[in-house]
Amino acid sequence: MADFTVNGVRVSPAKNQKLMRFLRDELRLTSVKDGCSQGACGACTVIIDGQTCKACVPYTDTLEGRSVITAEGLTDREKEVYTFAYAEAGAVQCGFCIPGMVMCTKALLDKNPDPNEQEIRRALRNNYCRCTGYVKIIEAVKLAAQIMRTGVIPEAQAKDWKLGSRVQRLDAAEKVLGTGKYPDDYYLEGMLYGGIVRSRYARARVLSIDTEKAKALPGVAAVYTAADVPGENLIGHLRHDQYVFVPEGQLVHYLGDAVALVVAADEETLARAKKLVKVEYEPLPPIRSIEEARAGAATVFEGAKDNICSHEHISRGDADTAIAGAKHVISRHFETPWTEHAFLEPECALAFVDGEGDVFVYSTDQSSHQTREECAMVLGTDRVKVENALVGGGFGGK
Ligand code: FES
Ligand code: FES
Repeated sequence: MADFTVNGVRVSPAKNQKLMRFLRDELRLTSVKDGCSQGACGACTVIIDGQTCKACVPYTDTLEGRSVITAEGLTDREKEVYTFAYAEAGAVQCGFCIPGMVMCTKALLDKNPDPNEQEIRRALRNNYCRCTGYVKIIEAVKLAAQIMRTGVIPEAQAKDWKLGSRVQRLDAAEKVLGTGKYPDDYYLEGMLYGGIVRSRYARARVLSIDTEKAKALPGVAAVYTAADVPGENLIGHLRHDQYVFVPEGQLVHYLGDAVALVVAADEETLARAKKLVKVEYEPLPPIRSIEEARAGAATVFEGAKDNICSHEHISRGDADTAIAGAKHVISRHFETPWTEHAFLEPECALAFVDGEGDVFVYSTDQSSHQTREECAMVLGTDRVKVENALVGGGFGGK
């Protein structure tokens, strides 16, 4: 096993693993965010021997003699400067990408104290931000560079909290330095890991689910299917038409519909156990687009009269009179464009039984009330509490 240093401290991981997993799971360095696990987003960026590196890419065995720095290992002065610059520029929103951006900033400024905009853009080119549009992050890098060069932190623009003041976010420091906690950053001693077995088909009938082999794997605590749901198995925002787990005999409605939940002692066992859940399907022709659904060859939901989920008619004022008096009338079908979400934060939650015997959930969503209501419905008990931890850019998917 390799010896290397992390923030100046010598370490020797007991097993070969991705650097990000070692930094997060064993050293509990929460600034190293797991945005995609696949080297795409840059949220896990650290500095290795002066160069930025996505920590989810290298294995620890390849790091013999190297020096790794995370946001936790910045000097006090660097922490002060980057926090001020990012907060003052308004570069911090959900904050999930920010520690990675900060490490890119440090790697750049350590080599080039006075970068131009093109050089800054180049330094940040491998890092996604879902929230800010990058302009303010670039301003933050310019401001950090100026402070580092002059040694002077300017006065903050806003000195009061009057309406319209450009104040610094109160949570900027914890987001810049990565100490703030998103649900993925919570660890409980002895906690178990849950993961969903998802449908391999966009539309199919589940004929049978065999969980025996998965249950028998050492380290697996439980495998749950629809038959184990104590409360409602159908939930949903517009209609209660989404299965918590698709039962035997029923249809999956999209690629990824949940069929079973596996709970295991660690993530490796979890991944192995999920593969041992055997689901037999009868594949059916998928309905792949709104156009196909409108054509109505088959209904997405069995027994439904059509594929219209919801029909809303919005009218304001006297449209007929306005149109009758208009010089030009254009009548067309308008659609909003498809938008890539650029998923960053993992969709996850941490749940435990609290001191009062209630189910307590740390979630990463924007409506803890809805999550609480749905958890209570599914569990068949009102004794559920939900608290939002920090939420990484919540624009739909995660
Ligand atoms: S690049 Fe490593 S988590 Fe996305
Ligand atoms: S602030 Fe960059 S992803 Fe939210």
